[in-house]
Amino acid sequence: MKKNRKLVILSALLTAMMLFSVACSSGDKEGNGDGSVDIGIVLPTKDEPRWVQDETRFKEALADTDYSVEILFSQGSSAKEKENVESLLTKGIKVLIICPHDGDAAAAAAEAAAAEGVKVISYDRLITGTDAVDYYVTFDSVAVGAAQGQYLIDKASGKDNPLYLYAGAATDNNAFLFFEGAWSVLQPKVKDGTFVIKNSPEAVALQDKAELTRDEMSKIIGQITTNWDFNEAKNKAESHLTAASAADKGDVYILAPNDGTARSIADTFATDSDVTSFVVTGQDAEKASIQYIIDGKQSMTVFKDVRTLVKDSIDMAVSILKGETPGTTGAYDNKNKEVPAKQTEVITVDQENVKAALIDSGYYEASEFTGLE
Ligand code: GAL
Repeated sequence: MKKNRKLVILSALLTAMMLFSVACSSGDKEGNGDGSVDIGIVLPTKDEPRWVQDETRFKEALADTDYSVEILFSQGSSAKEKENVESLLTKGIKVLIICPHDGDAAAAAAEAAAAEGVKVISYDRLITGTDAVDYYVTFDSVAVGAAQGQYLIDKASGKDNPLYLYAGAATDNNAFLFFEGAWSVLQPKVKDGTFVIKNSPEAVALQDKAELTRDEMSKIIGQITTNWDFNEAKNKAESHLTAASAADKGDVYILAPNDGTARSIADTFATDSDVTSFVVTGQDAEKASIQYIIDGKQSMTVFKDVRTLVKDSIDMAVSILKGETPGTTGAYDNKNKEVPAKQTEVITVDQENVKAALIDSGYYEASEFTGLE
């Protein structure tokens, strides 16, 4: 009996230990044992490498957290975004980290979360027009645009250099911040004749104005938006090149808002025989664009270290779950309130520093690229 009794106790112990470990493993990011989730994360779309990058970085960062987390994509739809938030609310989330597809339209999803007492952290892009946003983590988006504009200025010489402007989606508050930054450095160079704008009559009409209102920027962005869509970027570039004369081409300068659209625009300009050379900007340090930069097919990108953004948002979420007040470094006006924010700096990357900025920093492996010196 005794022996048997020892065996019974041993097997009972083993079962208990196994039960405990399952609870723990399922207790990490994929949901607590009871299927409830602590932190919900909603990203705009899987169709852009940028946001798949963020998903990867979130998973890396959350690998050993005690909290359960679920990541959902909105596939470029505000309706799907709202659905995602509602599904996370049914799973009992206490914190929502959300990058809105459309800043204004996402107000409804944020308000649904706030109504359940859930804290809302706007991620990278700001949710606008509502009080239901508690915190914001982002990069210095105005500095992104200024870095892109400055890069074109640094590569240009003489006068009358053809300048082609492109922008992000008007539903994205960042698109205005990027353009504001670019305009702040480019406008004086348009005014002094270094550059001549070739593809936006609205921008030409406003070229003597150093600071633009939101409405004035909307008018320009309305003409040059890519909607963050690679095909739309390609089509816009094609129509601009068709409309332009050979004299409007030659050695040209292109403000492209991010890497995905930059590759499309660059490939399109590269096929035009009247374009003898081009300098084109980018953003996000996507792998495909790093290869383009190494190969000389894209000139630069603005590196935004997503590891930092992910860490800042998780730190905020964990503070909230612990009942503490997250640390912030400033605030953003979202048209309703000053949203406490944490902002991260950005780095200009081109052939000169691509290895230092992206390989030596451990962001990417050298083996992921060819031709890297
Ligand atoms: C912006 C974001 C960029 C960019 C873009 C396209 O809001 O800050 O990094 O990639 O969206 O999705």
